[in-house]
Amino acid sequence: MGRLHIASWLLASSLCVSAPAQEGDPTVPQETPDVRMPAGDAARGIPMPTGTFDQEVYRARRQRVMEQLDGDVAVVFGATSIGTHGAQDADFYYLTGLAQETGAALVLAPSEPVHKEFLFLRGIDPEQNRWNGERAILGRGIELGTGFARVYRMSRLGGVLALTGVHAEEFVFLGPIVGYDKPIPKALQVSKDASARLPGVSVRMDHRLLRRMRQLHDEAELDLMGQAIACTAAGLEAAMCNVRAGMSEFELKQVIERGFRDAGSRRNAFDSIVASGPNGAVLHYPDDGRLMQAGELVLCDVGAEIEHYASDVTRTFPVSGRFTPRQREVYEVVLRAQQAAIDATRAGVRLREDIHQAARHVIEQAGFTDDFFHGTSHFVGLEVHDAGLADEPLPAGTVITIEPGIYLADEALGIRIEDEVLITEDGCVVLTEAIPRSIDAIERLMARCNSHVSAPTGVSP
Ligand code: GLY
Ligand code: MN
Ligand code: MN
Repeated sequence: MGRLHIASWLLASSLCVSAPAQEGDPTVPQETPDVRMPAGDAARGIPMPTGTFDQEVYRARRQRVMEQLDGDVAVVFGATSIGTHGAQDADFYYLTGLAQETGAALVLAPSEPVHKEFLFLRGIDPEQNRWNGERAILGRGIELGTGFARVYRMSRLGGVLALTGVHAEEFVFLGPIVGYDKPIPKALQVSKDASARLPGVSVRMDHRLLRRMRQLHDEAELDLMGQAIACTAAGLEAAMCNVRAGMSEFELKQVIERGFRDAGSRRNAFDSIVASGPNGAVLHYPDDGRLMQAGELVLCDVGAEIEHYASDVTRTFPVSGRFTPRQREVYEVVLRAQQAAIDATRAGVRLREDIHQAARHVIEQAGFTDDFFHGTSHFVGLEVHDAGLADEPLPAGTVITIEPGIYLADEALGIRIEDEVLITEDGCVVLTEAIPRSIDAIERLMARCNSHVSAPTGVSP
């Protein structure tokens, strides 16, 4: 529980004296913004929430975090650079909507008397501006653009943590937790450093708070995830319709990703896996140079992204459009395992104990115990392996994958089937249902749209 106003005199101390005049007196209630966002050139360089959500959505999420902080202070850092897939730190993005801003941080301090949330942006470097574009100076435009009443430069983070820390009993590290061989997360290090300078103020961990919030998706998020899945469906169907013997894995990857782009996805949620023949037995096969052969399978584990929301689907299908008897036999086991896991999925069950075990049981019964060596499910959301609480009963509103596989390296055969499901009170909805999954559905689609494939018995091409 935070302490109120223990050292309010500090607000007038030298830390505040150095504040630029525009930041005002933090003890004066915030006025309702009465200035419109600057338009056109005047708005250049002002960070704004991206995606389809209004900044009120992010403000409401921050408010919910603050309600759970028990009066204590939390800091969340953004990514220092935007990575291969353009990913901002997902917690920071979830709470701010600021996708492009690097080197930023957020402080939530519910015990503060007036302003309880603070955004810190990296400083302006005129030489960097020539490389990365101009950035706006602090002012009302940035406050309105970001939805934060208090926006500072990063150089002031230490001072604000000192001020807000004296109104709290603890700094709260919101995670995620990492292994001892990884760098100490910046938020944890900064919280420790700040607490070391405030006798009586300690650091506690609440890595469940954000994970619990992020694993529950509202309608608007589910809509974006559905759009990402529709793009993934377009890519996978294009693959089934265009695959042929002699084509390289890379060419098929291009077909899939072109399908994503044409359907409206600007980015992949992760690096596409297109693994033919023996490569299908390598779980995260990283290359794509092999030429596909008639008679073998190709495993495509891919996902498009829409406005920072991921999708993740795997389909394994025959290069020449028809499964061989052995491929059919193994595929049917994986499909039954997946269906058993889907049937076991509803609110209140557990990922490992219930869903994974349901899939595992079918695969073991079929004699493939050692050929399924990974988990069955993970959360999906802003990240492909999204935040969630895997050790708690699953609540309705959570999206997970169900992705059993059988990998037979000595038969040059690997089969994985991966779908996304939305957990409901009494079951689950397979969000990726429209993407052909059964042997029959795959063979029929391939016969209909791939001119190199002959029709299964009784089907006119
Ligand atoms: N695409 C990676 C995975 O399925 O977890
Ligand atoms: Mn997956
Ligand atoms: Mn996958």
